[in-house]
Amino acid sequence: MKKLAVITGANRGLGRSLVQEFSASGWNVIAITRSPEVLKARAGSTDVLKVQLDVRFEPGPELAEALNGRPVDLLINNAVQGAPHAELGTIRADGVLNAVDVNVAGPLRLVQFLLPNLLEAPDPIIINVSSRLGSLDAQSNRDFSCLSTSYAYKISKAAQNMLTVSLAQDLHGRIRCWAVHPGKLATAMGQTDASKDPRSAARQMRELVDSGDRASPRFCSLGEQDLHW
Ligand SMILES: NC(=O)c1ccc[n+]([C@@H]2O[C@H](COP(=O)([O-])OP(=O)(O)OC[C@H]3O[C@@H](n4cnc5c(N)ncnc54)[C@H](OP(=O)(O)O)[C@@H]3O)[C@@H](O)[C@H]2O)c1
Repeated sequence: MKKLAVITGANRGLGRSLVQEFSASGWNVIAITRSPEVLKARAGSTDVLKVQLDVRFEPGPELAEALNGRPVDLLINNAVQGAPHAELGTIRADGVLNAVDVNVAGPLRLVQFLLPNLLEAPDPIIINVSSRLGSLDAQSNRDFSCLSTSYAYKISKAAQNMLTVSLAQDLHGRIRCWAVHPGKLATAMGQTDASKDPRSAARQMRELVDSGDRASPRFCSLGEQDLHW
């Protein structure tokens, strides 16, 4: 039987490439998009079901119907809310809260909704697509001081990393929980020097899933070393 992956933020950027990579590799995929545009997955593919959901809201009957009671082998929380860098005096607190809603509470809502389905799978994995910019260790060492990154993004990605750790503690290895930095991607939200093709990041993500790594929690950069939390 084919494995089932649920992927958020699926209609562009890394999310779209993940849908294409996993469906082309023999997985069934539930592709979650917040907008009703046509998902450019494999043309004519019956392996990809599209569900419309803004992750700031609780999942509902549309996702339940797509799941149809099936075990979920892999959840990839990829959807992201960024924010432009701003001077301290002009940062809007509601922008920070919105990023936390999408990037932290969103993944938590998906995990809660899918938990029974994840626990039905023999060896399930939750991947929260993180960022090296969410590393408290690296940021406190000023490793990225040359980059203009918003408070909203840094704070929400650090909090998302703590969500990954908390889930791993709670789930005791029954569901492996990983925070994965995909690299500097040439996507809408990538930095100006970002050049990595999201398709190559998606392939590396699939290889990571296939690797059978038992670590949980884990914070790593695709194709590179583990990162410091
Ligand atoms: N790009 C990079 O260089 C880079 C570096 C490090 C980490 N990452 C991480 O990689 C992941 C993917 O990034 P990306 O570059 O592919 O981003 P992207 O091209 O900006 O795509 C973001 C996706 O998230 C969706 N989204 C935003 N808000 C949502 C909401 N409230 N509910 C549901 N979906 C929502 C968007 O949907 P719409 O199309 O409807 O807007 C879009 O599909 C993110 O977690 C990001 O933090 C990226």
